[in-house]
Amino acid sequence: MPRLGRRRFTTLAAAGVLGLAQLRARAFHQAVAQTGLKDAFKDDFLIGTAVDGRTIDDPSTPLAQLVAREFNAITPTNLMKWGPLEPREGEPQWAGPDRLVAFGAAHGMTVVGHTLVWHSQTPRWLFVDEQNAPVSKERLLKRIETRIRTLVGRYQGRVAIWDVVNEAIDEDEKGWRQSPFLNIAGPEYVERAFQIAHEADPKATLLYNDYNEHNPGRRRFLVDVIRDYKRRGVPIHGVGFQGHVGLEYPDFAEYEKSLQAIAAEGLPVHITELDVDVLPRASGYTGAEISTNFELSERLNPWKTGLPPEIDARLTARYRQLFELFLKYRQTIARVSTWGTFDGESWKNNFPVRGRTNYPLLFDRELKPKAAHAGLIALKAR
Ligand code: GLA
Repeated sequence: MPRLGRRRFTTLAAAGVLGLAQLRARAFHQAVAQTGLKDAFKDDFLIGTAVDGRTIDDPSTPLAQLVAREFNAITPTNLMKWGPLEPREGEPQWAGPDRLVAFGAAHGMTVVGHTLVWHSQTPRWLFVDEQNAPVSKERLLKRIETRIRTLVGRYQGRVAIWDVVNEAIDEDEKGWRQSPFLNIAGPEYVERAFQIAHEADPKATLLYNDYNEHNPGRRRFLVDVIRDYKRRGVPIHGVGFQGHVGLEYPDFAEYEKSLQAIAAEGLPVHITELDVDVLPRASGYTGAEISTNFELSERLNPWKTGLPPEIDARLTARYRQLFELFLKYRQTIARVSTWGTFDGESWKNNFPVRGRTNYPLLFDRELKPKAAHAGLIALKAR
């Protein structure tokens, strides 16, 4: 709680203008308006966001200032992914990541590296040799090793947390995800990634990061992996729950069970990519037709000019419900990061249907804090 200026309060309260509790809450809101979410939750967990290159290129823009005021952790959306970072083998494009890490350091933020090994957004050359034939297992593992040593080594001591492996568990709960990494190198690639990252920066916190974290099959598999890794000394230090949720999903009881399961293994959870999709769900409609069928896209994109107040209220309630859960597990949760800062930049405007107008984040398209933001502050003011 920020300092209150106690004398002024008691005077106003004594004058009967406002109750002491109301005055306290008002002072808290005013103090937070000059500081941010990070300050409201400073005794609980880090509060982070994901930024792209444009956001941090010019630290004087309103967006960069907003990020610096509200958050104490940043993750690059794309700058460190393998494809964008190293489109040609051996020629990493350091300018963007260097600026991001410097921006984080300048603002005393925890910088999160995202992500060392992931089946998406990979460079074209990764899984083939010079003849365009599938690369050998040894060569793929070597490429993974070179990437991790180069990237983690470059930012040793400055990037405190790494999403080491992203989304390596199967969608259908059958174990490891089928991917070129798995098909060529076998499950060993996952643990190799953790081992090499640990060698490259022994002090960094190494996370396994994935979505649909409430899914019981995925939970079971992940817990088995954690136990196996711990038994064999594979350095895994925490689990990232992406947190791409909606107004009506996931099942909160299952979500809580997953938090408990990771806590029971003695590992911290990082909520790494939180956003709340408010639009009608597109599931049931498949394929490219979704975006081309006009009638369908009208139905799936109902709030092009603004979010109706009743849906905004549901969004606010959803964020509060999520943070109430996070606060309940504050001993386990080390960080809560949203995936992006304001609605206009969210990937949720284009996924799973392109070109919609979504409202998943805590700041609106004019960078103003939404009611959901005030709702979170209020959780701490009471
Ligand atoms: C996944 C990835 C992120 C990002 C989001 C949405 O969750 O981990 O890097 O790409 O999808 O864009």
